[in-house]
Amino acid sequence: MMKIIRAKDYKDMSRKAANIISAQVIMKPDCVLGLATGSSPVGTYRQLIEWYEKGDLDFGDVTTVNLDEYRGLSAENEQSYAWFMHHNFFDYVNINPDRTYLPDGMNPDAKRECTRYEEVIREVGGVDLQLLGLGHNGHIGFNEPGEEFGTLTHCVDLQESTIEANKRFFDSADEVPRQAYTMGIQTIMMARKILLIVSGEGKADIVKRAFFGPVVPQVPASILQMHPDVTIVADEAALSKCDCQE
Ligand code: F6R
Repeated sequence: MMKIIRAKDYKDMSRKAANIISAQVIMKPDCVLGLATGSSPVGTYRQLIEWYEKGDLDFGDVTTVNLDEYRGLSAENEQSYAWFMHHNFFDYVNINPDRTYLPDGMNPDAKRECTRYEEVIREVGGVDLQLLGLGHNGHIGFNEPGEEFGTLTHCVDLQESTIEANKRFFDSADEVPRQAYTMGIQTIMMARKILLIVSGEGKADIVKRAFFGPVVPQVPASILQMHPDVTIVADEAALSKCDCQE
């Protein structure tokens, strides 16, 4: 089942998403959170940090597994997703760093790394709540348009549009890695609950195609329509092309 929650703007989206994550952590303090990077979740993490500082939240027993990591970047590299997670979230809450997992961008053996990461997810008991952003081209994680739906963690060649979209974090497009390790669509679909956040007019077209159009590999996020427990928190700008008044 897919539930769409309408938010006013980015800030409201972030508060609503943080509320849903908080509820998960309160209901199951030793839960496994699947986490994402990018611009969409920054406000959500900031809100969670604020509530943690107020004493309302405890991440002491939480485990996290991230969606993806650039291939070839180490955790010390400021553009890596590991660095992002530390500087936007992990370092500001009482999460145990030993229980925060990401694919290892420095493992040159792609096949081994992907098998290892699937094993990590299995060993921690699977993901209770997976946070997702939505790419302009419909990707979730780094599952790019056109790949088959049945994938587990794998190594992907990033599409030109993704490299363009992500170059804002680098000095130039040339420095954006060309490959990444990502949970596959099947890995994501195995999460017990999914929370997708999306904001801004630039995503309005893809929101319409992904959640109100046919389920097709050309729009990877469309598969979420088949998941039993998906919540989408979208702001008005992102919903501006859908007739989905609630
Ligand atoms: C990040 C990830 C990506 C982003 C997506 C949206 O871990 O897997 O799928 O969620 O590219 O990025 P933003 O939020 O920067 O628009």
